[in-house]
Amino acid sequence: MQLIKGDIVYSSQDARLIERKDSYLGFENGKITGIYDSLPEGEHEVLDRTGCLVIPGLSDLHLHAPQYQYAGIYMDEELLEWLEKHTFPEESKYKDIGYAEKAYGMFVDDLAKSETTRFAVFGTIHRKSTLLLMKKLSASGLKGFVGKVNMDRNSPEYLIEKTDDSIDETKAWLDEAASIDGVGPIITPRFIPSCSNELLERLGVLATERGLPVQSHLDENPSEVEWVKSLCPWSRSYSDAYDRFSLFGTTPTIMAHSVWPDDDEIALMGKRKVFVAHSPSSNANLSSGIAPVRRFLDNGIPVGLATDVAGGSTLSMFRMMTSAIEQSKLRWRYVDSSLRPLTFAEAFHLATRMGGSFFGKVGAFEPGFEADILVIDPSMLHTTLYGDLSPAERLEAYCYRKPGEGLMDKFVAGRRIF
Ligand code: GUN
Ligand code: FE
Repeated sequence: MQLIKGDIVYSSQDARLIERKDSYLGFENGKITGIYDSLPEGEHEVLDRTGCLVIPGLSDLHLHAPQYQYAGIYMDEELLEWLEKHTFPEESKYKDIGYAEKAYGMFVDDLAKSETTRFAVFGTIHRKSTLLLMKKLSASGLKGFVGKVNMDRNSPEYLIEKTDDSIDETKAWLDEAASIDGVGPIITPRFIPSCSNELLERLGVLATERGLPVQSHLDENPSEVEWVKSLCPWSRSYSDAYDRFSLFGTTPTIMAHSVWPDDDEIALMGKRKVFVAHSPSSNANLSSGIAPVRRFLDNGIPVGLATDVAGGSTLSMFRMMTSAIEQSKLRWRYVDSSLRPLTFAEAFHLATRMGGSFFGKVGAFEPGFEADILVIDPSMLHTTLYGDLSPAERLEAYCYRKPGEGLMDKFVAGRRIF
């Protein structure tokens, strides 16, 4: 067994912070064995990180690898204009495998250095570049899902597929992706405006027949929601449009954003256990709005946090936690005072345990959970004069003040990343 000694913090099933100061976290064969007050008997490999925080890795439920090169610029536009002017031209470059090699190399290096251990990532429409991205992520030791994007309408002619080609390429991609370790394929219709009914239908069949997960975008920005209404006059809602094609929780599904769902959509998401990838940074940057996270939780909808790079400007999931809390307070103040804001303990729960549950037993330190572990040296906080902060208080201060600094060790399913 391997043991890490430090101040251990993780989230209980009911979103309480569990703290174990100066304790030993044990793991073996990639799984957590338990937390021990003192060194268990026997021969063990012990990593002494006394004074450091030991927490589960964070799951980023939605981000776009091919948008990483321009993250942090072009934040003065709304979604549809931003897609046309910046996103589509950049994504078209991934037709060139040489460009993908360089750009995805940088993306994967930075993701590996970050607090993210699990991911659900969008590639582009290009099969070869998407496979390259999957292989690079697999080699990094991180785990998760990557999607070859499908789009066959309302897209520029340099970034569009014919419907048959989109399906054929997706099938060829699935065949080649099957041999990649630790990184699985996820069916990825970009969003309703860029996918014809026929393409959605065929992707739904593919996902259902092969039992593959699905990811897409939902109810992000008012102009996009209006557009979907006019494109799908036969549907009750944006969610219903996906649902008609078995792309809404028939298999495990992540929908990014969901800022503007109506009551029926919330009921359907709860019934189908569709994960919301709550993307607070992106929702602010693209002026999309503030998602009703408390309503999701009250209706039994699983919620994870997401950077949505490059709608979000950073890979930092710690920053997504504090952003989600801050936005929930603004929503409570300005929109609906009956919906309590998120607490720090809840935001940590979404970033670790609830988001992690999309990937299996991930995001907590109970026996049998996968050993996704981060060790943080929080000594840069300089809080010693203030008094003896509890591990959870130090974690909170760290997330607000020094997110992403002082990362000492990172393990995914027991494998050391750094
Ligand atoms: N909707 C469709 N495509 C995208 C994208 O690339 N980013 C975001 N934020 N929303 C989208
Ligand atoms: Fe997105």
